[in-house]
Amino acid sequence: MEIIRIVKRLGEVVDSALQSQQTIGLVPTMGALHAGHRSLVERARVENDIVIVSVFVNPTQFNNPDDLRTYPRTEEADCRMLEACNVDYAFIPSVEEVYPEADTRVFDLGPVAEVMEGAMRPGHFNGVAQIVSKLFALTKPTRAYFGEKDFQQIAVIKRMVELEGFKLEIVPCPIVREADGLAMSSRNVRLTPEARAIAPQIRALLLASLDLKAKEMSPIEVATATETAINATEGLEAEYFQIVDALTMQAVTRWGDAGSEGCVGCATVYCGGVRLIDNIRY
Ligand code: PAF
Repeated sequence: MEIIRIVKRLGEVVDSALQSQQTIGLVPTMGALHAGHRSLVERARVENDIVIVSVFVNPTQFNNPDDLRTYPRTEEADCRMLEACNVDYAFIPSVEEVYPEADTRVFDLGPVAEVMEGAMRPGHFNGVAQIVSKLFALTKPTRAYFGEKDFQQIAVIKRMVELEGFKLEIVPCPIVREADGLAMSSRNVRLTPEARAIAPQIRALLLASLDLKAKEMSPIEVATATETAINATEGLEAEYFQIVDALTMQAVTRWGDAGSEGCVGCATVYCGGVRLIDNIRY
């Protein structure tokens, strides 16, 4: 595996791959890699001739400076995992290399980006669109792989792809969980042992919401009852739990109103001060 830190070198390897008609799989990450990332990389490895993994903690998508400062950075371990997965190139640039000038682009991301994470983290999705569009322009991927834990992010990236006219396939990949159900996340390392013991309750309560739906409750009733149950659990505090159309990200009032992808319940929950997200399909 070659570690690339310079945009110019990335351009050379991409051009040479495209000249020899090779397909390119891109896995964009912010590092602190775990088994969830590994599943994306393994899938990219199977489906493409060349696999590029980017490891870049993108400052423009953090609306909280403390979150950016304390975001886990584990480059050596990340590179060991990527080597073991047979990745061809790890793109690990500096902030200056990616943003020689401030990126002032504002994307018209529309309603998918206005709710939930978009409402709670102003500017976050615009920052995601900035970095992902840069990575797509640099790596010209045939396919790009994203985890469904960040369900809304995938909808936002699809919108950005439409706006920018990129020709590639966005490949959503299932959430990978710990044995006790906690969704894998780079932020899990910040959980204290006490918080780590409580965090799997998030998944348990999302699963319990399936039973509420089976009792003929409406999406709004299920969402309210689930958020109440999260807040009633010692150590958990819901920022939101919403049941939305899985394509438009807009709240649904009747189950039958959702489009072809059905509904998804999206939760953001503080556990011991750590902001965790998870979701469940209905
Ligand atoms: O999901 C993430 O890790 C990040 O938002 C991404 C897509 C790598 C962009 O920085």
